[in-house]
Amino acid sequence: MNQELGKIKTDFPIFKNHPNLVYLDNASTTQTPQVVLDVMDAYYTKYRANIHRGIYKLSNEATEMYEVARQVVADSLEAKFEEVIFTSGATQGLNMLAQALGKDLKPGDNVVLTRMEHHANLIPWQEMSRRYGFELRFIELENYELQTSDDTLKNLIDKNTKIVSFTLVSNTLGTINNATSIIERAKSVGAIMIIDAAQAMAHFSVSVKTLNCDFLVFSGHKMYGPTGIGVLYGKRERLEKMDPVLFGGDMIKEVTFAKAIWNDIPWRFEAGTPNIGGAIGLATATQYLQRIGWLQILEHEVEVMLYAMQELQRIGGLTIIGPIEKRVGVISFILDCVHPHDIASVLDTKYNIAVRAGHHCTMPLMQYLGIPGTTRASFGIYNSREDVDRLVEGIKEVKRIFS
Ligand code: ALA
Repeated sequence: MNQELGKIKTDFPIFKNHPNLVYLDNASTTQTPQVVLDVMDAYYTKYRANIHRGIYKLSNEATEMYEVARQVVADSLEAKFEEVIFTSGATQGLNMLAQALGKDLKPGDNVVLTRMEHHANLIPWQEMSRRYGFELRFIELENYELQTSDDTLKNLIDKNTKIVSFTLVSNTLGTINNATSIIERAKSVGAIMIIDAAQAMAHFSVSVKTLNCDFLVFSGHKMYGPTGIGVLYGKRERLEKMDPVLFGGDMIKEVTFAKAIWNDIPWRFEAGTPNIGGAIGLATATQYLQRIGWLQILEHEVEVMLYAMQELQRIGGLTIIGPIEKRVGVISFILDCVHPHDIASVLDTKYNIAVRAGHHCTMPLMQYLGIPGTTRASFGIYNSREDVDRLVEGIKEVKRIFS
């Protein structure tokens, strides 16, 4: 482990309170560094007020901090200020998009997803398909990767495809998807391109300019920020044409009893009082990761992930459910004859190791793979080879107990 990241656990108060904790549920939610807690505390204790509304100093300060937070996030994505909408998380962003864009589709149109989508990027489209009659199509998997050959994509994404929406990184398999070929094909037929980056943001730098997507969503809590805050990025020209789906205060310019005139973007899409402290916390989490440096993060995570893959594969009866390469440190596995819940429970009670067990909000993917669920160890910046060793020791104990 490099010097910087070797001391990183001390940035996170959770590890002071639980010195023996091996936290391997980072794909579910990451822990929060003190710097993020400090800026949120400052909002609540020093300048708490609502934004865009008050003609007084505290409100002006809160407004300033909230909008600076938007700029920080926009810069990190290589987006424009007005292209960043704060949401409660990736789920809200995807629901907003499905509702705003889905209502313009009709029978004969299709929306292309993949077999590895999280429920949040499946159910909203299922519901819109039921309401408006468009078809849902899925990019298939081969060896836990999306099938993205030219011919496959040409067959699937055609002139009737209006939207393509997929996850950049699988929360269950750890696969980093081949975004470029999907985006190129989607663009060639004029489809709107949506990326769910919830599982990518903590692992590598994501640029909407490089991806050239129309929309992108993520959650703050999976990148060392607070819960209840997320981002919906939209290309300016797309947002200008999109109808809001949430209505109320702050998203309007003028209202009469008969009608309302919408506010400018991005505020048009932020009805009601937003998560002000959360947005400020998310910006600080973004800067925290930038300060460590994406190269350092990547090198460290790859080292721990490769070590974990190597050690786990040595355990008899253990099968990794995910690709060997082009992946992040989200490692799902099954163990012969032991239910994932039993594995997670023994790891927790005997070894103080936190992992997730079950379908990971990808129930259809489990059906597709023909397995009831997996145990998932997902790694973050504070995890080390020692954590892998404890996990391996724990799994060996599970095997002993259930043999
Ligand atoms: N999407 C989160 C996970 O994969 C909750 O665990």
